[in-house]
Amino acid sequence: MTPQSETGTLLSGLRTVADGPLSAATNMPPAMYHSEAVLALEQERVFGRDWVSPGLAAEIPEVGDYLVWSIAGQPVFCVRDGDGRVRTFSNVCRHRMMTLVVGDGNSRRITCPYHSWTYDLGGQLVGANHMERTDGFDRADVCLPEIRTELWEGWIYCTLDDEAPSVADLLAPIEGIVALYGVADYVPIHRVDEVWNGNWKFLAENFMEGYHLPVTHRVTLGAWMPMDSVVFPDERHGAFTYQMFEKDENAVYGRAHSDNDRLEGAWRSTTFMPTVFPAHMYILAPDHLWYLSLRPRGTGQVELRFGIALAPEVHASLVEPEAWIAEMVDFFTAVCEEDRMVVEGIHAGSRSSLATPGPLSWLEHELHHFMGYLADRLTPAD
Ligand code: FES
Ligand SMILES: [Fe+2]
Repeated sequence: MTPQSETGTLLSGLRTVADGPLSAATNMPPAMYHSEAVLALEQERVFGRDWVSPGLAAEIPEVGDYLVWSIAGQPVFCVRDGDGRVRTFSNVCRHRMMTLVVGDGNSRRITCPYHSWTYDLGGQLVGANHMERTDGFDRADVCLPEIRTELWEGWIYCTLDDEAPSVADLLAPIEGIVALYGVADYVPIHRVDEVWNGNWKFLAENFMEGYHLPVTHRVTLGAWMPMDSVVFPDERHGAFTYQMFEKDENAVYGRAHSDNDRLEGAWRSTTFMPTVFPAHMYILAPDHLWYLSLRPRGTGQVELRFGIALAPEVHASLVEPEAWIAEMVDFFTAVCEEDRMVVEGIHAGSRSSLATPGPLSWLEHELHHFMGYLADRLTPAD
């Protein structure tokens, strides 16, 4: 078989499983995770067209605050401009293509570290020394390319596709739930970027299923989640999936603070876990949230951003904030380490010539939604 027909066979198999019932579904075959051709399609049709999230708008609250990200391999940075808007620009200098900013920071001007071309917070070139002898050069003509950006319930979303439907339209079916929690007021306390040795989809799928919680997370949060309370969407949606569940009274984290007057009844102990396709996923609890945002690094590694934020009344009530936050960050870092073990383990296992996809549990419902999403994006329209 030619490489094209191998990929075609793979994708038509994906379409078939995705269109069948969950009860008959198996997980995706190893080639979906190891094929360079699939990765190239994902970069073009998934990461190059859909919305991705670099994090919370509250992570860049002040004018001039910025953070870096990349979309389908394009380096970008998000910045709070002089009007208080979050905007996203190409992170590549218009002179000789140097990377402009690295990491997080705050500045009223973005100055290239190579020859000091300087841009304002709207991406406009406002300074360029020694260019007076260059024919036709006018700095007013030079601006960083701007990337389409929308804020939704406290999150920053960006896309390279000017034709993509708005985030508000795509996520309208879950807006009523997410809005209950008031994410825009959550206080960011932690964010790290890491690289794990596994295909990005293994980590995405791991996030989407609670089946592993009592086992992989036995010593951390595995016991707090009664599996029979898990709820999934009634139908498959094109842009997202989710699960939600209640945490019992043993949960150290995940229940509303007594000063929380936004959530009522069962919502005070309910955790909502959306995945916004392709790669933004978060655990939204009444007292905290933590999120992952993923980017593929080749077929065999995933770059992940992991952030934590606290509900405002929780943050306000902390008596010894540093110690309390350090303990919480340690706890969720341990949870992430547990996940890294299994994600890297699945990736290694899936390289075996004896590896074959197995049947799914009803608790892996979201994996079936994810297959449908991938089939929608990757299968070329006839
Ligand atoms: S590459 Fe940026 S100023 Fe020269
Ligand atoms: Fe996990």
